[in-house]
Amino acid sequence: MSGRFQDQVAIVTGAVGGIGSAIVEGFLAEGGRVGLIDFNAQGGQAYEKTLREHGHDAVFVPADVAHFDQCQAAYDRITSELGAATILVNNVGISPKTEGRALKVWEMPPGEWNNVVAVNLNSVFYMTHLATPHMVKQRQGRVINMSSVAGKAYCDIVAAHYAATKAGLIGLTRHWAAELGEFDVTVNGLAPGRISTPLLKSVPQEINDAVTRVTALRRLGTPEEVADACLFFASDQARFVTGQVLDVAGGWLMT
Ligand SMILES: NC(=O)c1ccc[n+]([C@@H]2O[C@H](COP(=O)([O-])OP(=O)(O)OC[C@H]3O[C@@H](n4cnc5c(N)ncnc54)[C@H](O)[C@@H]3O)[C@@H](O)[C@H]2O)c1
Repeated sequence: MSGRFQDQVAIVTGAVGGIGSAIVEGFLAEGGRVGLIDFNAQGGQAYEKTLREHGHDAVFVPADVAHFDQCQAAYDRITSELGAATILVNNVGISPKTEGRALKVWEMPPGEWNNVVAVNLNSVFYMTHLATPHMVKQRQGRVINMSSVAGKAYCDIVAAHYAATKAGLIGLTRHWAAELGEFDVTVNGLAPGRISTPLLKSVPQEINDAVTRVTALRRLGTPEEVADACLFFASDQARFVTGQVLDVAGGWLMT
């Protein structure tokens, strides 16, 4: 299969979810080889089987990205099976709700806070720490961080841990873009608005309806629309773009 990512290896975290899977399939459709990381072992194994049956070079490794040792083991297995990666998509993210709503600061158990920081923020450091030595050596690399409009503007449907970690990813994107630019490694981010994925099932329908009413394009986004922007950042077309975080939000919470 030929395309923009011919002979390139991409690693995607949270690869068995809505946006992650759309990104995986986008790379594969354009000739890439893809390493998938997710803690949904059963879903991931079935997904890998389907992708391979369609002739794709895909390797799934179950791992909880909140733990560095599991990230290391997943990275090592993917690169030994597919070759060293020049593209890393830090897509994984969680947004816990209690009875469909975001907890306020006085209600939030510290364990929940720590878990969101570990998954949404620490994992991005772990994976980027593992992937960048090869990129620097090769003088070729693309890191894409999945932030959110909630990292840029107040959004009452998420809790503070989510906003803080997604804002943290914007800081990391700028900082690493500056650190890695001299090695031809770009670092960019995406800030999706409301995208129709399993993550949204944790909130009542009326919340999604309310968001749709104040979104310029008057609808939710699709995982493929986020994947398209991700593939642009990963491609050669974006070779002079770094340190940027692009809203893919249909004009919701415009920043
Ligand atoms: N859906 C939206 O509206 C929206 C909006 C803005 C940003 N985002 C961001 O986009 C990204 C993808 O979101 P989505 O809607 O596709 O989510 P999703 O819930 O559909 O998928 C997330 C995936 O991550 C995996 N995962 C969760 N915790 C993990 C862990 N500890 N270790 C390994 N895998 C883990 C899940 O198994 C799942 O497959 C997230 O970072 C999310 O914050 C989503």
